[in-house]
Amino acid sequence: MIPMLRPEIMNYYQRGGERNRLTVSSRGRLEFLRTWDVLTRVLPAPPATVLDVGGATGVYAGPLARAGYRVCVIDPVPEYVAEASALDGVAAVVGDGRALPAADDTADAVLLFGPLYHVLDRAERIVVWREAARVVRPEGVIVAATISRFFPLFDGLTRGFFRDLRYRRLVEQTLSDGTYRNVDGEPAWFTTAYLHHPDELLSEPAEAGLMVRRRITVEGPLRIIGSRLDEILADPQETAVMLEMLRTVEDEPSLLGDSHVLSVATPLRG
Ligand SMILES: C[S@@+](CC[C@H](N)C(=O)[O-])C[C@H]1O[C@@H](n2cnc3c(N)ncnc32)[C@H](O)[C@@H]1O
Repeated sequence: MIPMLRPEIMNYYQRGGERNRLTVSSRGRLEFLRTWDVLTRVLPAPPATVLDVGGATGVYAGPLARAGYRVCVIDPVPEYVAEASALDGVAAVVGDGRALPAADDTADAVLLFGPLYHVLDRAERIVVWREAARVVRPEGVIVAATISRFFPLFDGLTRGFFRDLRYRRLVEQTLSDGTYRNVDGEPAWFTTAYLHHPDELLSEPAEAGLMVRRRITVEGPLRIIGSRLDEILADPQETAVMLEMLRTVEDEPSLLGDSHVLSVATPLRG
């Protein structure tokens, strides 16, 4: 049986924000450009099979299919799955990272771009990692996105959310145990999530029988710089220079607390 999403998480995604989150704002565009830049370097060459768990409307699945990969999106939101399956070369099914509808040893790569920050219970996150380890081939790779628990503090200061006492309480809670609870469903804020401490990105996958090869900082502090980022992204040459510069620090452990992290892991099998 497929575990259900918490109602507030389902409601949040059914508002449809993932359709354009990575294209309308400069912070979203930065996240996409950097994530894509990393994927082009850590995935096996096409035509490999990629399972995109939490793939939403196919924001990465579409470009991956165009690049020659065989891609299957697995996501709990039926509306997103319908949109992803309409993309050329993309298969999509409703499902959950805790019980993947896929056979053992069938994927060359598994993307976990969503489930790890929406499963609050640690034991269940280990199940997500284990499921990825089960379906990936012995020589395959898992790429997992997580969000730093320090990010809401800086984001709230930059965007003015800190003026709301409820937000400051939310930050306090997130800093203390990683749980980000938008209990009133404030639309400008993120929905219920688990935000990781960088150390957990070693211990969780290790418990699931995975070896973490890299922990890559995606945006570093750039996610919150505002209009300067708009200027860079408006200029293709500056964008290329920015991407080149970010590559040089992407493995720096002291930057892992800033925003998104991509963990690259492989199965440990005897
Ligand atoms: C912020 S969106 C990310 C979408 C896209 N993968 C990206 O990186 O931009 C998070 C996605 O994770 C999905 N998700 C949440 N809980 C999940 C779970 N337990 N298993 C699989 N996907 C889940 C949501 O439905 C949503 O589409």
